[in-house]
Amino acid sequence: MERGLQKKWIIFNVTFLWFLMKTGPALSYLGIVTASPGVLLPLASSVNITCSLSWIARSLKIEKKNSTHSFFIRQLFNTNTITVHDNELSPRQATYMCLADKKIVNGIYVEAGVPPDQPTILNCEQEGELGRIYCLWKEGRETFIQTNYTLQLWQRRGERNVTVDSVRHGGEYIAVVTASNGLGSNSSHPYAFTFFDAVTPHPPNKTIVCDIVSSNCIVTVQDRQNSSHFQIRYRPTDGTKWQRVEIKRKNSYTLEDLQPFTKYEFQVSCKFLIDRGKWSNWSQPVIIQTAEGVPNGMLDVWYRWSDIDSNRRNIILFWKPMSTTEARGLIRHYEVLFYRGSDRSPVHNSTTRDTWLSKDIDRRSDRTTYVIVVSAHNSKGNSPPTHINVTTEDISGQPSPVNVVAKSSGNENMTVSWEIPQDDETLDVDYIVEWKEQREKHPSYTYWVKVSKTSRSATISGNLSPYVCYEFRVYPLWEGRAGIPTITTGSIKQEAPYVDPEFHYEVQKHNSILITWKKIPPDKRRGCIVEYTIYMQSMSSSKQFKIPVNQSMKYQYEISNIQSNVRYVLRMSASTTAGESLGNLGKEVYPDAQIGTVFKSLNKYIKL
Ligand SMILES: *[C@@H]1O[C@H](CO)[C@@H](O)[C@H](O)[C@H]1NC(C)=O
Ligand SMILES: *[C@@H]1O[C@H](CO)[C@@H](O)[C@H](O)[C@H]1NC(C)=O
Ligand SMILES: *[C@@H]1O[C@H](CO)[C@@H](O)[C@H](O)[C@H]1NC(C)=O
Ligand SMILES: *[C@@H]1O[C@H](CO)[C@@H](O)[C@H](O)[C@H]1NC(C)=O
Ligand SMILES: *[C@@H]1O[C@H](CO)[C@@H](O)[C@H](O)[C@H]1NC(C)=O
Ligand SMILES: *[C@@H]1O[C@H](CO)[C@@H](O)[C@H](O)[C@H]1NC(C)=O
Ligand SMILES: *[C@@H]1O[C@H](CO)[C@@H](O)[C@H](O)[C@H]1NC(C)=O
Ligand SMILES: *[C@@H]1O[C@H](CO)[C@@H](O)[C@H](O)[C@H]1NC(C)=O
Ligand SMILES: *[C@@H]1O[C@H](CO)[C@@H](O)[C@H](O)[C@H]1NC(C)=O
Ligand SMILES: *[C@@H]1O[C@H](CO)[C@@H](O)[C@H](O)[C@H]1NC(C)=O
Ligand SMILES: *[C@@H]1O[C@H](CO)[C@@H](O)[C@H](O)[C@H]1NC(C)=O
Ligand SMILES: *[C@@H]1O[C@H](CO)[C@@H](O)[C@H](O)[C@H]1NC(C)=O
Repeated sequence: MERGLQKKWIIFNVTFLWFLMKTGPALSYLGIVTASPGVLLPLASSVNITCSLSWIARSLKIEKKNSTHSFFIRQLFNTNTITVHDNELSPRQATYMCLADKKIVNGIYVEAGVPPDQPTILNCEQEGELGRIYCLWKEGRETFIQTNYTLQLWQRRGERNVTVDSVRHGGEYIAVVTASNGLGSNSSHPYAFTFFDAVTPHPPNKTIVCDIVSSNCIVTVQDRQNSSHFQIRYRPTDGTKWQRVEIKRKNSYTLEDLQPFTKYEFQVSCKFLIDRGKWSNWSQPVIIQTAEGVPNGMLDVWYRWSDIDSNRRNIILFWKPMSTTEARGLIRHYEVLFYRGSDRSPVHNSTTRDTWLSKDIDRRSDRTTYVIVVSAHNSKGNSPPTHINVTTEDISGQPSPVNVVAKSSGNENMTVSWEIPQDDETLDVDYIVEWKEQREKHPSYTYWVKVSKTSRSATISGNLSPYVCYEFRVYPLWEGRAGIPTITTGSIKQEAPYVDPEFHYEVQKHNSILITWKKIPPDKRRGCIVEYTIYMQSMSSSKQFKIPVNQSMKYQYEISNIQSNVRYVLRMSASTTAGESLGNLGKEVYPDAQIGTVFKSLNKYIKL
């Protein structure tokens, strides 16, 4: 067969004797077995099998075998020939064996099947102009015997049909499949098609997306197959739904609905004709980041005042980074302008990459007002500026939230809630909840959320670690300015502290002991410390006193009215709400002022 023309044929299981036996009677020097009328027969017919010997056998018999069964058919005695008539032919193939005196003399294969049904061509297709044509057809009934299928292809050229072996640009074609086997042959109806029906174009192999300079996104498709119709699909690389556009008789298209500064994935597909034929596969994806756009969000700003001295004040401003959809690019810096009163030009102009700014300002007069304008800048421009009217008015008398509580809610979140003193319920006040790890002295940035005046709680999620004590400050916010916060602590997960506080005692003159201790290192606290406990046990009476000490005591406690000349053991523990440390290191004390110096040297731990 010629190149490009597919020929499908089907071969059923044949044994190694096929080529030998199918041609006629099998000969051997012992005897001959023949099949009449032949060895390839229609299933509905019958066969006569004859075995002839050159001598007279005492017993002569014929057996039949197909691939699953074995049958004894007939046996004769003292003869040199035997014939059997079999009208139950096995589909596919059966073997007839001739045995003389229990020895195999010879055998013959007989095949039975049906002539092929008419095949029906379902579809013909080819990948690209230089591909091979593939046709798919339906075969009809099973034939049981080897049946070959031959595909023939003609091209109409004027009045003539010319045999061809491939489908080329523009032509009209006819395909016919012929099924044939030993019992007959049968041809399909002609199947007519054109190049454009059968050939699927290859995807366009070059796609140019987005003209960064003009920040327009123009998609240009290059295709060498003379396609006249294209479609583009695109989506952000985060995998949301594809958008599609079809473009007719052009190879470029301007996309107008793309988000700036977003990575998009593009694929194109083509088709030879607008009204018929098949779309190509999608091309390899092209990934492009669109150009930046001017930021369109407004910064959320708040600030705190503090006095430095009688001439200067400090203001710290805070704002949140914008979401990527608002920033529409990389924010390169923030600009903070300070205007005094209704001045036209700013008294200070600061730029920063941080999301906060601290500035010392002259305290000309308590009534000076400032307007501070904050905006975010990317390569394309700046966000709409946020204006805040800064007041230096004393607001220390304004009420702070009360009953501030931080409660772990679920595994990772913390809910901070508060109440407002009843008289002040009507005030126009927002809130800032700010938090930091308790150990951090001066964080360079701060975590915070702004909460509107109608809320009395905030849930903080995402960046809190377990077994760490956080300090939460809830500020009232008047026109952007933070008042005096109420502070609480909390931890999303806690356990008993790993260690006891390190303590030291001193025997005082007037029968008392002063105990002082240090903070437990932050990584050993395992939560927020809520209480310390001092245990004092008299060695003689085995009586034990337990003295809870809460955090408002400044890491010291005085035990008075101690009995002289009694030995004591002192121990200390620390507790989180989840439990108490072991408290298993003790110190012995003899509260005898006379020999106090001796006991100072004993101020070391004994293991209990
Ligand atoms: C098969 O044998 C029968 C007699 O047993 C005979 O009538 C018939 O014609 C034979 N058929 C052929 C095809 O030889
Ligand atoms: C073998 O012959 C038996 C009896 O005619 C039939 O039932 C069986 O289907 C045949 N096996 C095959 C594989 O054709
Ligand atoms: C071809 O197949 C059809 C059934 O598909 C059948 O009716 C017809 O007799 C067959 N023709 C030949 C020549 O076998
Ligand atoms: C279309 O894609 C399928 C699956 O990846 C592939 O088998 C086929 O060859 C492709 N067709 C063309 C025209 O590239
Ligand atoms: C070409 O083939 C078609 C379909 O088989 C047939 O109708 C037509 O008569 C043929 N033309 C010639 C000139 O052979
Ligand atoms: C089928 O094709 C094979 C290989 O070309 C050939 O040997 C065989 O004779 C063919 N059989 C029929 C029934 O046409
Ligand atoms: C596109 O295909 C043409 C011809 O098939 C080839 O010459 C060209 O290099 C291909 N371009 C790319 C970008 O693959
Ligand atoms: C594309 O079309 C032009 C004219 O329409 C033709 O000359 C050229 O051969 C075609 N190219 C291909 C690859 O089919
Ligand atoms: C602030 O300073 C920057 C450069 O440092 C300048 O580009 C900008 O125009 C100034 N803004 C105003 C309002 O003066
Ligand atoms: C700031 O004050 C000016 C005039 O005093 C007023 O028009 C403006 O609305 C105020 N802006 C804010 C954000 O309070
Ligand atoms: C934490 O809060 C977030 C958002 O508020 C919520 O989606 C999440 O389910 C919460 N997780 C738990 C463990 O409560
Ligand atoms: C801590 O002690 C002070 C003064 O003794 C008391 O007012 C306060 O309620 C105590 N706090 C706790 C949490 O027990």
